[in-house]
Amino acid sequence: MAPSSPPVPAADLQYVLGIETSCDETAAAVVAAGDKLLSNVVASQLKTHFRYGGVVPELASREHLRAIVVVVREALEKAAITYQQLDAVAVTKGPGLVGSLLVGVTFAKGLAASLEIPLIGINHIEGHIHAVVLEERQRGVEIAFPSLALVVSGGHSHLFYVERSDGDVYRYALVGRTRDDAAGEAFDKVAKLLGFGYPGGPLIDKLAPLGNPDGVALPISKMKGNVLDLSFSGLKTAVLRHVRAVNMEEEIDARRRLFAQGRPASLDEITAATPQATLDLVASFQRTVIEELFRRALRAAEERSVHSIIVSGGVAANSGLRSRFQSLTYPVYFPSLALSTDNAAMIAAAAFPRLRRGERSAFDLRPQGSLPLGA
Ligand code: KG4
Ligand code: ZN
Repeated sequence: MAPSSPPVPAADLQYVLGIETSCDETAAAVVAAGDKLLSNVVASQLKTHFRYGGVVPELASREHLRAIVVVVREALEKAAITYQQLDAVAVTKGPGLVGSLLVGVTFAKGLAASLEIPLIGINHIEGHIHAVVLEERQRGVEIAFPSLALVVSGGHSHLFYVERSDGDVYRYALVGRTRDDAAGEAFDKVAKLLGFGYPGGPLIDKLAPLGNPDGVALPISKMKGNVLDLSFSGLKTAVLRHVRAVNMEEEIDARRRLFAQGRPASLDEITAATPQATLDLVASFQRTVIEELFRRALRAAEERSVHSIIVSGGVAANSGLRSRFQSLTYPVYFPSLALSTDNAAMIAAAAFPRLRRGERSAFDLRPQGSLPLGA
């Protein structure tokens, strides 16, 4: 059970340090007064995992261990504050890779204990939603609630009905979720299948505008049971079937060699190794993922009569997804590109309302690999 203490007057809660190590990014950030982002440092481990075509958990923990002190120190330097000025430490407690989470949680505990300041564990998915709330507040915009939040990343594809009541209390109800792969995972798996390296989402985003999204007919899932649930495995299988049907092995091998050179391939090199028919397949795949997400989010928003839509998580960086949502009459909020993918600003931001209500984590806080939000 999380202990609590008397609510903290807003003026007494100035600087919160956020720490995020749930997957392959070591991140630290300082947020002031709940709505001012003073620093946001992210050390990516991409170079370590790239050659394995995915995140290797054991290597991820080791890299976090190597980076954490430097990243936290840099976050404080950029915010121009000292350790002694911190009022609280917020850390991702889950969901994520347990060995990775353990590094952030252990470091946060040590820091909070030595500074004698509150420690609070935050759900990573709640963090993604608060990345958007934070950035809008910085612009002077208060998002109208209830809101429908679509959180789409390498690990999650969830739809939440989010209510906000007096005192900045947020309540989350899970209204839809993927039954198999997460959206980012679908991007990454299809990219790997086509020989486009890892992670695939950002590259597919760059290549899709070069192809015809009507070029290859791919299925959108039809859900039995909860119609707001999502599924990407049928789409992935359809891409695989297409690859086999049109004998793409040779070009895929050529691209794999391009990505195995030990240096990042340039976009020109990649497009030169990608025939138009494959660009059409990429464009059709991306469009189908976007339609799957867009239709479910819109349906959920209409059914629940929300006042706004929030889209967050790594896949929210996708330019096709952003423009698809722009056609709506709802106010739609996306994070900046920097706060779409994993970061610690979102963890510090999500912590503020909880800390102000007196919420704390005990020093026996444990990372949780699987940690539902609003289930
Ligand atoms: O939120 P995030 O940094 O980490 C997780 O919590 O999983 O999301 C990473 C995921 C990866 O699957 C990556 O391929 C995807 O987000 N991603 C994108 C784009 N940028 C990152 N997917 C599509 N288009 C993008 N521009
Ligand atoms: Zn994430």
